[in-house]
Amino acid sequence: MTLLELDDVTASYGPVRVLEGISLSVPEGGAVGILGANGAGKTTTLRAISGMVRTGGSITFDGRSIAGLSPERVAALGIAHVPEGRGTLGGLTVRENLRVGAYLRKDSKSVPGDIDYCLDLFPQLRNRIRSAAAALSGGEQQMLAIARAFMAKPRLLLLDEASLGLAPGTAKTVYEAIGRLRKESGIAMLVVEQNANLAFTLVESATVLETGRNVLTGSTAELKGMDEIRRAYLGG
Ligand SMILES: Nc1ncnc2c1ncn2[C@@H]1O[C@H](COP(=O)(O)OP(=O)(O)OP(=O)(O)O)[C@@H](O)[C@H]1O
Ligand SMILES: [Mg+2]
Repeated sequence: MTLLELDDVTASYGPVRVLEGISLSVPEGGAVGILGANGAGKTTTLRAISGMVRTGGSITFDGRSIAGLSPERVAALGIAHVPEGRGTLGGLTVRENLRVGAYLRKDSKSVPGDIDYCLDLFPQLRNRIRSAAAALSGGEQQMLAIARAFMAKPRLLLLDEASLGLAPGTAKTVYEAIGRLRKESGIAMLVVEQNANLAFTLVESATVLETGRNVLTGSTAELKGMDEIRRAYLGG
């Protein structure tokens, strides 16, 4: 079953239109990638879903239209957004950030167990549980941002360049944890990534954006076999 569907979505910042018609769908429990060069519209596509930018076209989640809803309403429906640049609350500790992630939940009894799960997923955070988020390394902040999004118990996770600025080994660790989270939780994922090698370890299909449009969509295996994808995104 389809969980998220975008059909011919446009988006503008003020008078400037930057999405010219994006279509994609994410199946229940599936993981879909969005690839594309700088400025192609990847972040804006996630912002359109989250209600952070004015849109046209249709956006449906779980069979209902979410276009035009506020970011708070979209989050309450079960969509968690890990933004570019991570977006943790720097003045709060790791544990406080995780608690804040769960603030919309009604099942407060299972929050401590879920915090434990996050610390098992990202063991590096366990030693830093009382540290301010601002004092964490870039990789640890990325781990915390993902863990905080998980604490909302979403049905869909929007991930924007989780590998950005991380050393290759750290990026790999982060993606392995996301893969484990996906397997164990069944949360669907829409994954923006410039590092296609990493994205392809997680997603089973992807769409390529160029100047606000999809130019190519296919399964991971199909895309890996295409010369233009290999040249542009896979380093040869
Ligand atoms: N707040 C904004 N106001 C005006 N224009 C914006 C704003 N944010 C982005 N844009 C423009 O919208 C277009 C798409 O930007 P977007 O951030 O979605 O690209 P991206 O694919 O995520 O790029 P990157 O890989 O660099 O993160 C770009 O031309 C960008 O300059
Ligand atoms: Mg971006």
